[in-house]
Amino acid sequence: MVPVWTSLPQAEVEIDLGVGADCHEGRLPIRWFRVNPDQIILALDVDSAQEAISWASRLRSRVGTFKVGLQLYLSSGSEVMQGLHKLGVPVFLDLKFHDIPNTVAHAVAVTARWKPRFLTVHASGGKAMMEAAVASAPPETRILGVTVLTSLDERAILEVGWSGGVGGTVRGLSQLAKNSGLSGVVCSPHEAKSERSKWGAAAEIVTPGVRPAGATGDDQARSKTPEEAIREGASRIVVGRPVLKASSPEAVLDKILSSS
Ligand code: C5P
Repeated sequence: MVPVWTSLPQAEVEIDLGVGADCHEGRLPIRWFRVNPDQIILALDVDSAQEAISWASRLRSRVGTFKVGLQLYLSSGSEVMQGLHKLGVPVFLDLKFHDIPNTVAHAVAVTARWKPRFLTVHASGGKAMMEAAVASAPPETRILGVTVLTSLDERAILEVGWSGGVGGTVRGLSQLAKNSGLSGVVCSPHEAKSERSKWGAAAEIVTPGVRPAGATGDDQARSKTPEEAIREGASRIVVGRPVLKASSPEAVLDKILSSS
């Protein structure tokens, strides 16, 4: 049976109670923010292609996209990408490209053989680099911008030489990413609301740094729950350890999918 929420395009529902109901013009807006499987990105932060593919086969009915980051890519690169492609699951290749436009364009073009759903670049690589990434991406791939890493605080930002501080730098780089034709950004759940209003309804606002209610925070200092992130404007959330380290990963995902 297909869960009812998978058919909802937007997780906000207005229920018509009919004339005379005790609310404005008989319509009661109910904010119903269920997370659906396609909004879940599972971070495959493991060391081998075999382990990653086994997680993807096991959890694919509850997870929309599987994220391959530096750790997994450097340990098993094309083996894991080919395996996930063969399995037919959508992949987020999170390698955060940052180089001269020509190099990034060729790197993006090479990934076309695996048709990733998402691919990341650093917005600080500049407009020409981001435009080159978009121009050489296959039609199936959406390029997302990373603005300021959430590991950088105000002091670290100033050390890098960005005088606008965290907020100003995020805003500036995000606008540059938008002007460069990217499909959206990866940001902290705390920035989801402002990024959604800047980018509009169709953009991808992807937020790591989420923790299901009651889960340990690990090293995520300022987390929000998955449903809070979606409510504030995220289109998808990234989660890793709370699922992979759980005694029942399926139960953790089912809890995320059933909370509202
Ligand atoms: O295990 P956990 O749920 O913390 O995993 C989060 C994933 O999102 C990791 O792959 C991490 O590298 C990534 N990420 C993050 N914070 C960012 C950007 C990416 O946690 N700002």
